[in-house]
Amino acid sequence: MPEVLQNAEKSAVQSVPGGADHVAIIMDGNGRWATQQGKPRLFGHRAGAKRVREIVESCPDLGVKYLTIFAFSTENWKRTQAEVAGLMMLFRRYITKETQALNEKNVRVRFIGDRVRLDKKLQTLMDELEELTKDNTSVNLTIAINYGGRDEVARAIKDIARDVRDGKLDAEGVNEGTLSSYLDTMVLPDPDLVIRTSGEARISNFLLWQSAYAEYEFIDTLWPDFTRDIFSEVLDRFNGRDRRFGAVKK
Ligand code: FPP
Repeated sequence: MPEVLQNAEKSAVQSVPGGADHVAIIMDGNGRWATQQGKPRLFGHRAGAKRVREIVESCPDLGVKYLTIFAFSTENWKRTQAEVAGLMMLFRRYITKETQALNEKNVRVRFIGDRVRLDKKLQTLMDELEELTKDNTSVNLTIAINYGGRDEVARAIKDIARDVRDGKLDAEGVNEGTLSSYLDTMVLPDPDLVIRTSGEARISNFLLWQSAYAEYEFIDTLWPDFTRDIFSEVLDRFNGRDRRFGAVKK
């Protein structure tokens, strides 16, 4: 598959009948899970990180080719300095610890979000993991760190404006496909299903452009309790839905 999917190919991926090719997850509820056990919030994030492995590994059996997970939003910097630092350390440790297993499982890892604000060590680990797994062909795992849908669109528009100014792009030719091809997710199909755990029914700036026709599932389970069996049940419900993409069923 070419690095940048053309629009026609993107819709071909989207319209596979009945399947959730691309599932995106807002992994919410780590803090509450920890509090319920009288533990610090970071304990919940660590449990949440462990859960990621089980869910990634379940993807091939469940028919999920692309899994995108929201690990840290552009708004999460507003948390206490201790929690932010703890999460950044967790991301560094997660990458270091999981690299071998992810590669052995043939998982291709990508990161989306603005990396500039992340510490250099973390950026290097992210680059190395992307490079190491770039030929892997099982699950496409995308981890969103310092990601915000509005921020992503704003950065894309800045790049488009620059290319128009430099004569690389014709302003009259800019269309939906152009914007899609400037987003961090340029090589990914749009999500078929977005899941949010922990009972909150909002999308919190996640994949705003890409989820225009996604189905949503808001489930009560807190992320650290989100098992492969629950994932499978949510996918079964998704498979029973009637997706029309704005058209009328024939
Ligand atoms: C939301 O729960 C969760 C986060 C902001 C962090 C997500 C991180 C992980 C699941 C662990 C690390 C992931 C990887 C890929 C290593 P919350 O803190 O908002 O929970 P609350 O709403 O109960 O307070």
